Amino acid sequence: MRDLHSAPLAGSVVLVRADLNVPTAEDGSILDDTRLRAVAPTLDFLRARAAAVVVFSHFKRPSGRPDPKMSLRLLVEPLSAMCGCQVEFAADCVGPELGAAIGRVRPGGLVLAENVRFHAGETANDPEFARALAAPGDLFVNDAFGACHRHHASVVGIAGHLPAYPGFLVQSEVAALSGALQSPRRPLVAVIGGAKISTKLGVLENLLDRVDSLLIGGAMAGNFLAARGIDVGLSLLERQMLGQTAAVAAAAEAKGVDILVTEDAVVATDPGNAARASRVDVDSIPNNQMMLDIGPRTVARFTERITGAGSVIWNGPMGMSEVPTFAAGTNALARAIAESGAYSIVGGGDSVAAVMALGLADRFDHVSTGGGASLEMLEGKILPGVAILG
Ligand code: 3PG
Repeated sequence: MRDLHSAPLAGSVVLVRADLNVPTAEDGSILDDTRLRAVAPTLDFLRARAAAVVVFSHFKRPSGRPDPKMSLRLLVEPLSAMCGCQVEFAADCVGPELGAAIGRVRPGGLVLAENVRFHAGETANDPEFARALAAPGDLFVNDAFGACHRHHASVVGIAGHLPAYPGFLVQSEVAALSGALQSPRRPLVAVIGGAKISTKLGVLENLLDRVDSLLIGGAMAGNFLAARGIDVGLSLLERQMLGQTAAVAAAAEAKGVDILVTEDAVVATDPGNAARASRVDVDSIPNNQMMLDIGPRTVARFTERITGAGSVIWNGPMGMSEVPTFAAGTNALARAIAESGAYSIVGGGDSVAAVMALGLADRFDHVSTGGGASLEMLEGKILPGVAILG
């Protein structure tokens, strides 16, 4: 990969792909600006070296045409405040609108271009659209780690037209996630949760060859329990995945991986019935109830493994953590990991949100800005947006 420190930057136009897909409330206010702050070191570096910087990003999932509700205009002020300069907004990410905005900034200035997904060519990685994106630039910097798993024009196609560099965020994400899997401080403990086993089986399969312990919670633990013949009541189950779940459990045993699954759970008839929640062992879940969090005995068992770990990788909440009654397990593990002294990585929307809400982000060695992208790295996949950088 090229190194941005040796790039010819002064007086050039640098196109930066960022992931500014920040979570927003109904009224459009920004709920978490982590992704914005995460790209600041790269933007500051480029601007300090007298490059004119154009920032491309997607925002939510428009259907290939402009949608005012998904405009990136809402980031002009926050980005201006963060960078300490007035950001120029270009109402289109290609063509004369963008050219005019670039013409309005001096070296060191910043242009924010409108949502790249307002063009169908973005998600199709259309070669003509990629060429149009690249047209005004002298070089391309990919700092959109959260989008690196997308085979899209502003992530992959554009890099074929310009000298392409990784930004500092992409570098640190890739180094942290690949380093944790390839040369971890042992024992390496992976804590995997979340609702759907189907989105995590690839991760589990890849981790089996690398981890010493695998701790499985969240609704997806229901599949492991059901595969053992345990009746999990109304808990979320992906029955079509039971065979594959059983195969993962058997492979873990064959490889000598210490695999721990939810032993006791906080259950209720439904997530809205938190007031009537209770703790049960997993072999006695009432048939009209569902698991919504791990119970205290599971927390204690998982914490034991985390406390003795050299490294911990965590992805996915232990229950329905957005409901306070069902957040205790997730929060307890967040604290345990923060206090463990292990090299710690957290990725995935809900688990990162829990770490942020508890004010523990700076106690983790790496908090990933990528949801799907960090998951695909844990699956052992090469991200197309990273591969294209050479
Ligand atoms: C994310 O939020 O994980 C990234 O911004 C990617 O968004 P996408 O899933 O819509 O491609």
